[in-house]
Amino acid sequence: MQLTIPELTYVPEAEVLAKPDGYRGLYAFHKYWGKKPAEPIRYLIEHLTPEGGLVVDPFMGSGIAAIEAVNVGRRVVGIDINPAAIRITKLLVSPPPANAVADALRLVKREVMDRIQESYGTAGGASATHYLWADGRMTKVWLAGARGRTRIEADPTDHDLELFDQFEGYEPHALRQPRFFNNPRINSSATLSLHDLFSGRALRNIDLIMDAITELPEAYQEAMRLSLTASIGQMSKMVFAISGRGKMTGAVSEKVEVGSWVIGFWRPAQHFEVNVWNCFERRVLKLVKALNGLTAGRATIAMGNLDEINAGLVECSLVNGNTLDHLPALNEGGVDLFITDPPHSDRIPYLELSELWNMVLGETPDFASEIVVSNAKDREKSERAYNADMSRFLEIATTKLSEHGSLVLFFNARSASSWEFFDGFRAKASDAGMNFQGCFPLVYSAGSVVQDSREGALKTDYGLVFSRAHEAGDRLTQIPGWMSDLPARD
Ligand SMILES: C[S@@+](CC[C@H](N)C(=O)[O-])C[C@H]1O[C@@H](n2cnc3c(N)ncnc32)[C@H](O)[C@@H]1O
Repeated sequence: MQLTIPELTYVPEAEVLAKPDGYRGLYAFHKYWGKKPAEPIRYLIEHLTPEGGLVVDPFMGSGIAAIEAVNVGRRVVGIDINPAAIRITKLLVSPPPANAVADALRLVKREVMDRIQESYGTAGGASATHYLWADGRMTKVWLAGARGRTRIEADPTDHDLELFDQFEGYEPHALRQPRFFNNPRINSSATLSLHDLFSGRALRNIDLIMDAITELPEAYQEAMRLSLTASIGQMSKMVFAISGRGKMTGAVSEKVEVGSWVIGFWRPAQHFEVNVWNCFERRVLKLVKALNGLTAGRATIAMGNLDEINAGLVECSLVNGNTLDHLPALNEGGVDLFITDPPHSDRIPYLELSELWNMVLGETPDFASEIVVSNAKDREKSERAYNADMSRFLEIATTKLSEHGSLVLFFNARSASSWEFFDGFRAKASDAGMNFQGCFPLVYSAGSVVQDSREGALKTDYGLVFSRAHEAGDRLTQIPGWMSDLPARD
């Protein structure tokens, strides 16, 4: 059996958990919200499940547990309410060959690159890479210099301003209207439109790329669409311009650097308009590079239901939907490990934040079934409902665990009451023979940005381990920071 295995870039020993790698290779392809480090996930899978055992991540996100499980020869089920999450996971667990993605890029490039670059053309004939905007005024035009990394910063000319104006009011045809809610925490409102988030020029160029993707052979389209989702934030008006940073000296510098789209829909007064083609191409090339680094083969996948995994016919099953609806279909007693990073109360409203990605993918997410506490009042997502759903999930999971099965939850929440489901579970779990084994702090790589506000939260995310096997905790004591008690809460 051949599996898609990203090359092992680390030794899965306990020490590496204290110093995890940044996101590299396939893991660097998509900036999914709230990504977890791969090292502890792999370590736990290896230490808590047998070869060929069944691992389930009922809140899959960008697929780290699925990739790691497949890497070490386990079978895996991934479920997520977010269509973007499942489509990213499918691409990464069973990726196309690098040359197919490179070919697809070549075809899209031939079709639209020149027209896109023209829309950034300067009076001198070159194409701008970035425009700096401040309070609605174009203040700088950046061009690539002759040699590699150098750049030229010019003042905008009438030509630059006229060119920009030509596209204002452009109505995109290849994107569906996004759906936003009134949520001050992420700066979204029900009336937010694509024109608030993108220049007309960006929308027109995204349309060109979308149209070119639709013309590709079917098998080429998905990697291109997902690359567009991975780069769309950088094409928006939400790209911060970072200024005033003195390097080493502490002195305030005039130098402006390109930031990135951060969590939420903030449109900074000073922002960059980045060349849409460059954003897209860079992302696809990143994927090609990651795919080139893989040892061949791909996992067998079933999409949309759990029948084939229950029957042992595939290595991986991915389902887009509500975990509470799908988990009951798993064989009773068939799961060796639930390992999951569930939604953490009100920390990240995944579907609201993923709306631009799902718009590109033409998906209409099931907002009503998301398990989350949202500050968007019209969504009626309360902490009470969240706790009830999480308790229900743990109840179902308990019935699915094998005799030696374990359950690992990565968790952190802003308010103490968001841990309520967990306290209730702890008592019920021990009645069902599932004992709390201990927990450990999750360590992120120094370079990884923790993408949310930590206000009121515990400083650290914890991995909490339960198991039916009494001795399971003994296998984990090497994990740095391992403790047999729960972390202290406020
Ligand atoms: C903390 S994230 C997982 C991130 C993942 N660990 C990673 O590294 O990418 C939680 C996930 O739960 C998903 N989710 C929320 N409600 C759900 C539901 N009812 N059923 C399935 N998934 C749900 C969200 O879409 C989100 O992807």
